[in-house]
Amino acid sequence: YRRLRVALLGAGVVGSQVAALLRQHADELADRAGAHLEIVGIAVRDVDAPRAVDLPRELFTTDAESLIVGADIVIELMGGIEPARTYLLQAINSGADVVTANKALLATHGPEIFEAADQVGAQVYYEAAAAGAIPIIRPLRDSLAGDRVQRIMGIVNGTTNYILDRMDTEGADFADVLRQAQELGYAEADPTADIEGYDAAQKAAILASLAFHTSVPLDAVHREGITQIDASMIESARKAGYVIKLLAVCERVAEETGDEISVRVYPALVPREHPLASVHGANNAVFVQAEAAGNLMFYGAGAGGVQTASAVLGDVVSAARRHIAGGVGVGESTRANLPLLPFGKVNTQY
Ligand code: HSE
Repeated sequence: YRRLRVALLGAGVVGSQVAALLRQHADELADRAGAHLEIVGIAVRDVDAPRAVDLPRELFTTDAESLIVGADIVIELMGGIEPARTYLLQAINSGADVVTANKALLATHGPEIFEAADQVGAQVYYEAAAAGAIPIIRPLRDSLAGDRVQRIMGIVNGTTNYILDRMDTEGADFADVLRQAQELGYAEADPTADIEGYDAAQKAAILASLAFHTSVPLDAVHREGITQIDASMIESARKAGYVIKLLAVCERVAEETGDEISVRVYPALVPREHPLASVHGANNAVFVQAEAAGNLMFYGAGAGGVQTASAVLGDVVSAARRHIAGGVGVGESTRANLPLLPFGKVNTQY
């Protein structure tokens, strides 16, 4: 097989698992990808920081830029806007295909990144940027490209679902259960992103952009977190036959013309018999209603290092196959489509 040089940026909860799996399943992945995926290095801030899994020390470097030069595939798992944005643009402009799980970056600078990739014929893969291990980017972008999505209702943040679920089923205390979610590797570095709904809002912007073939800016997403939810609200909801879930709702609201969409994240009362009510722990679920397909539900692990690594590796295999096939024309496009709905038409009222 041909050898493809893979540069990994970041070795946190997800990054270290990606590196470990790439090494552990090297032969199998080579057969599937049609290329040897060789990790040429892992860029980190601190070479000696403790990692979730053991990896050879010589793979680590603090020099991301040198690693990017000459890489065929760059996997960005650092998170945050900078320097991730600069590195991704550098990778794209030096001819690499890029794989990222960076929802914050895509929700705020997606158009810039996709445009840069289009300019040079590179590809941006981001299956891991929304709902962890659940395949939802490709289904929305590719499988449903011939349909008309009407609404998405998703539980897209594992940490808040874990917290609300433990409060509901065991009467657990918010602060205690948040600490556990951090220990289990579900929460963001700063858990404010989870509990205040920023993380879910970023994912909602990404999913709505794909579902409605537009670019939904993050500041058009209505956002409420779960910090106001207490035991008495959960109890009242239960008595009335509901469970409280942090939902991301993305929908077409002008049915006659189909030209307005609403994207919002808020703690919602979900009837106990609805499929979303039985999503427990750090699992996520995305309920999609499409004109022709009807109702679809995507369910699985929404957070966690090794689970999210699965989605990243799928992207790496896709990127490798594309490389081997000569770069273009393997049935994938960077973006869903050209914008159909102008930014100004995004309606955040509900
Ligand atoms: N902190 C995120 C969550 C991780 O809890 O869902 C996955 O994006």
